[in-house]
Amino acid sequence: MPKVHFIDENQTFEVEKGDSLWELAQDNNIEIVSKPHCGGEGRCQKCLSQINGERVLACQTFIQEDLNIETNLQKKEREEARRLMNS
Ligand code: FES
Repeated sequence: MPKVHFIDENQTFEVEKGDSLWELAQDNNIEIVSKPHCGGEGRCQKCLSQINGERVLACQTFIQEDLNIETNLQKKEREEARRLMNS
């Protein structure tokens, strides 16, 4: 059974192969989408996450192996933009 580690939340879950990353996050109150979204249809990109340096849409990702996931990319990018504007 693959293990999924959410880096920003410091939480790890054991899942079945083929489980949806989006549903795993939703079921465990891990916030992947912060604003209105497409309901997991792969159109809005609000669930953009990063796995081993590669950007993925959580709602279109089905777990096959152990994963380390960063979920707060948009928040981090906004904070970096603010930091650059204020420097
Ligand atoms: S929730 Fe819209 S692309 Fe994933």
